[in-house]
Amino acid sequence: MADEPRLRDVAADRDFEIGAAVAAEPLRTDASYKKILRNEFNYVTAENALKMGPLRPARHTYDFRDADAVVDYAREHDQTVRAHTLAWHNQTPEWFQEWDYTDGQLEDFLRDHVHTTAGRYRSRVDAWDVVNEAVADDGTMRDNLWYDAMGERYLDRAFEWADEVASETDLYYNDYGADGVNEKSDAIYDLVSRMLDRGVPIDGVGLQLHALHEKPAPESVAENVRRFRELDLDVQITEMDVAYTPADDPGDRDARWEKQAEYYRAITEVCLDEGVDTLVVWGVRDSDSWVSSWFESLTGDPLLFDAGNDPKPAYHAIKETLETYEPN
Ligand code: G3I
Repeated sequence: MADEPRLRDVAADRDFEIGAAVAAEPLRTDASYKKILRNEFNYVTAENALKMGPLRPARHTYDFRDADAVVDYAREHDQTVRAHTLAWHNQTPEWFQEWDYTDGQLEDFLRDHVHTTAGRYRSRVDAWDVVNEAVADDGTMRDNLWYDAMGERYLDRAFEWADEVASETDLYYNDYGADGVNEKSDAIYDLVSRMLDRGVPIDGVGLQLHALHEKPAPESVAENVRRFRELDLDVQITEMDVAYTPADDPGDRDARWEKQAEYYRAITEVCLDEGVDTLVVWGVRDSDSWVSSWFESLTGDPLLFDAGNDPKPAYHAIKETLETYEPN
């Protein structure tokens, strides 16, 4: 691959951010992982290191070592950093189970967490997923500890607190299963519309696009992107991966990887057509992906590089599209 232009260079040539989710451990131990990361991606998201659980080993304690390792590595290699996530129902601190908090104490904790964490990285990260996955799959507001304590206003407060300490950072609402137009993305559209009406400082929406048990139709993703952009919100593809079920797996690996490449190509074309300038894949190599440890029924090869560190047809499909595609 010596003389071939790198994916990040082709992306940069058209002001496009091609990113990957990054784990702190392989950054310390895996030279091949680091080589692919710095050579091929101009954008990174911390896969776990900036989440509340990993950051808060105790009520009055912060552990920024993994987060700093990811952020500093990216900045050393001229990569833009997307921070993920300040308020989420998952990966909350383990000691929360024992903590008999009042609603007021939980609100104070969230405010302190947002101020401290977003404040610390204000000049080192480009964007934050301020709130992640606040809408349930049926379109209702997800019943979680923050919603229980503060109602829907926990989203308003979290964005306002982040804006108070990092006003130059772009602030996003991020979710899954809402990539195309459906009941859940309708509910998210209504939610962010209400937030905008309330003057909440939200800059954009992140569509995770985990194309696993379902593959959202590219034209439906395009329609969904358009309606959010019509609200004057930016849209990013934030956690893309593409795996196959026994039902839609062609069976032969090469045939599957060609099918996978066509889907990555189609979504990249949607991005270029609809003014989406950031596409992040949720991991560096197939062997780094969360998919195989969470879903035994799915194929464990959802990303752009295989377990042998080699680029797959999906990698070339995205690169060719960024090199040649003329948006309509
Ligand atoms: O770090 C601990 C380690 O100390 C411990 O020994 C080990 C065994 O329990 O667990 C390690 O923590 C794991 C962490 O990943 C780091 O590897 C957690 O158990 C595990 O649950 C966590 O999984 C992450 C998952 O979010 C948590 O919900 C995945 O890596 C990560 O890819 C996934 O990412 C989410 C996005 O944040 C939001 N959207 C969906 C996406 C996929 O689920």
